[in-house]
Amino acid sequence: MKTPHDIVLGFWDGHDSGAALMVEGRLLCAVNEERFTRRKQEIAFPRHAIAACLRHGKITPEQVQLLAGCTTDPAKTISRLWPAGKERYYRLRRRLADPSPLDPWSRRLKYHLTEWPGNGLTARLSTFALKRELQRLGLNAPLSLFDHHLCHAATAAYGLGLDESLVITLDGVGDGRSGSFHHFRQGELRHLSSLAARDSLGIFFEQITTLLHMRELEDEGKVMALADYAPAMAFRDNPLRELFAVEGLNLRARHHASGLYRHLERIFWRHAPEPFAAMAQQALEAWVIPLVTQAVASTGLRHLALAGGVFANVRLNGRIRQVPGVESCTIFPHMGDGGLAVGAACLGRRPQGPLMRDAQLGPEPDPQEVTRAVRSSGLPHRAVEDPASEAARLLTEGRIVGWFQGRMEYGPRALGGRSVLARPDLPEIRDILNLRLKRRAWYQPFCPSMLDSEAERLLSDYSGLPNRFMTALYRFRPEFRAALSGVSGRDGSCRPQMVADDAPGPYAALLRALRRSTGFGVVLNTSFNPHGAPIVNTPEEALNAFRAMGLDHLVIGGWVVDSSL
Ligand SMILES: [Fe+2]
Repeated sequence: MKTPHDIVLGFWDGHDSGAALMVEGRLLCAVNEERFTRRKQEIAFPRHAIAACLRHGKITPEQVQLLAGCTTDPAKTISRLWPAGKERYYRLRRRLADPSPLDPWSRRLKYHLTEWPGNGLTARLSTFALKRELQRLGLNAPLSLFDHHLCHAATAAYGLGLDESLVITLDGVGDGRSGSFHHFRQGELRHLSSLAARDSLGIFFEQITTLLHMRELEDEGKVMALADYAPAMAFRDNPLRELFAVEGLNLRARHHASGLYRHLERIFWRHAPEPFAAMAQQALEAWVIPLVTQAVASTGLRHLALAGGVFANVRLNGRIRQVPGVESCTIFPHMGDGGLAVGAACLGRRPQGPLMRDAQLGPEPDPQEVTRAVRSSGLPHRAVEDPASEAARLLTEGRIVGWFQGRMEYGPRALGGRSVLARPDLPEIRDILNLRLKRRAWYQPFCPSMLDSEAERLLSDYSGLPNRFMTALYRFRPEFRAALSGVSGRDGSCRPQMVADDAPGPYAALLRALRRSTGFGVVLNTSFNPHGAPIVNTPEEALNAFRAMGLDHLVIGGWVVDSSL
């Protein structure tokens, strides 16, 4: 067999660390470390993710020709030289450690330190620390370290295969910046302008999340969901409205991040959680929409490609789709720092064609491994010819079904590889799933997967461009809202995954079967993970989660496992 050329291994060793394997311009595998260490949004060096990528590509460490990482700012460099420091922050952020009286001081230090961009010295020290880790894995290829926002921009630009786009990144902070604008054309990214680390909308929303006693960098979606339960408020009455000012393609924060936190604390003191969340959501949209409008007007570019943690906010993304002049808006499915390994790999070797046609870029167990796990589980099980039809039958009967098929998804969403499924038209299932099985807050809505033809029929604002990755908000037509209340927000909104009607594979077949039996080619789809844990990776983890969550059935490969209760 011919030895493959241009083998690039991308990696990210910070928050939600991970790896990506690019061979001859094709993204073969991408996965995050959390799926192996079972610690959500892992921060440790991604040694398991790297091993999984190499295993999937049948590549030895010696065959890798380029190692591509990112970020050389002082904060990241210090964490590479002194990893114990970031472990304390990780435990505190996830609310696993008790707070200490020194926390306000460490927070202040963090905000100041993370604002500094990298320099020649930090780049050399980062290279030294990373080479030491990589060499332990037998990886001795040359190492290139790319800019943090350039990596985010690369994921957006190359991710879904647009020829030309306006690329916008917005996040907390990385390499001294909190956002960037690029013009992407013929495979090249041309820098237009940047937002300073000091003026960070990501940090703003992260602070709101912390103040609401949620986990920063993880629960921002909960803040957005909670905002739905506040009374409407005019922006002129929003106490947060003057915290940032938009000036053309620039954003100016009135306070430094540590001052901003104290200011937000004072505002929160006077308000209940729901209106406070709503103020933050409204303000975020009120600042980002003019920025995007200005960028579209000044460049004349009508196709947007977005990445960075701020674009995890699907309500914001739904508004951006409707900015005048915008013809299409794509968001890289793994928009946060967890996607940076792919960005680094793209900068190491320009991709050929779209990076992601679907999210199935992770490991896949072989059928014997699945059979062994099922047989040794001690749970009642039976072999089935057609897993999709069998799952559709169980769902139609109102059962809650674990679904484990093919390769694991890359990114934060379960998209038909490792999902928990239920009928979308039985509202009581939403509460059972939220409170009993997944132990989520009651106000968090579930998302639907639906056939493209159903998106056309059921959604009032579907433009004909399918959203395959649940990255933006849409609205159900009023006549379907009551029937599909299990997967819609209070205002009839939903965050759908759209699946091509004629797509191969069992997930599209399942949706087609459901359309025949229930009248809707739609299923409630939530990630397959017990509360607080990452999405399951192996068959054993799926079986353990099935048992722990108390699901009715598990359709795994060619097997159906039944609850023993
Ligand atoms: Fe970032």
